[in-house]
Amino acid sequence: MSVRRLAPDPVQPKSFAFTKENAAWAKTVISKFPPGRQASAVIALLWRAQEQHDYWLPKAAIETVGEMLEMPTIRVLEIATFYSMFNLAPVGQHFVQVCGTTPCRLRGAEKIIGICRKEIGEERHVSDDGAFAWLEVECLGACCNAPMVQINNDFYEDLDEENFTRLLSDLRAGKPVRKGSQTGRSASEPARDRKSLQDGALYDGSAIGGWTKAFADRVKRAEAARKAAAEAAAPPPTAAPSPAAEAKPARASRKPANGSAK
Ligand code: FES
Repeated sequence: MSVRRLAPDPVQPKSFAFTKENAAWAKTVISKFPPGRQASAVIALLWRAQEQHDYWLPKAAIETVGEMLEMPTIRVLEIATFYSMFNLAPVGQHFVQVCGTTPCRLRGAEKIIGICRKEIGEERHVSDDGAFAWLEVECLGACCNAPMVQINNDFYEDLDEENFTRLLSDLRAGKPVRKGSQTGRSASEPARDRKSLQDGALYDGSAIGGWTKAFADRVKRAEAARKAAAEAAAPPPTAAPSPAAEAKPARASRKPANGSAK
């Protein structure tokens, strides 16, 4: 892990203040924490400050966040310098983070890094036109679509020399670009010879609730089968006596009145 320091003084702005909208947002975030625990909002506020300030955190922003949360500046500085998601120096308009971990390496990350060197310059330096800076990072969690890069907040995947060069040039020219896979595949479906998950209903929303219905049907069928089995196992009902039989008088006893039989 490299040492992370604040940018040198010449590039540091004199002051920092949240915009009106961001200040209102920060107030809401702080109010979510109990009194005395407002420091818990520090990462959220630092992140918003970075987004507002061209994707990097100047010293003045770190101090401002400390004042808003009543935290000593050193505590905020510790957090800003610990997490690599906070940039401490200018990163250009488009900050390119290239994944250099094994799956991306095996799929050509070396070539993507080569293009960064050629098109942007050395790592951690802003290009001459201020458009780009780049950095090699560890796995960004999109290994299925390797090699990939993150540019500001978005992922660009399935890169090769041609589509990555075109992507940089379109971003530089301010043209709209496609986010995600650059080869057109949806999410991380198989890149070719797709043999599964081909039913369009899986993706158009029509299958929503399908599992609930299938489960309810299965319960109904099981209940009907149980009832049928119970009926089949039950003994046949005994015949009810006919009204004529009920009306017949009881037979007289053959037993003599004195109780002796001859
Ligand atoms: S290895 Fe590159 S995204 Fe995981």
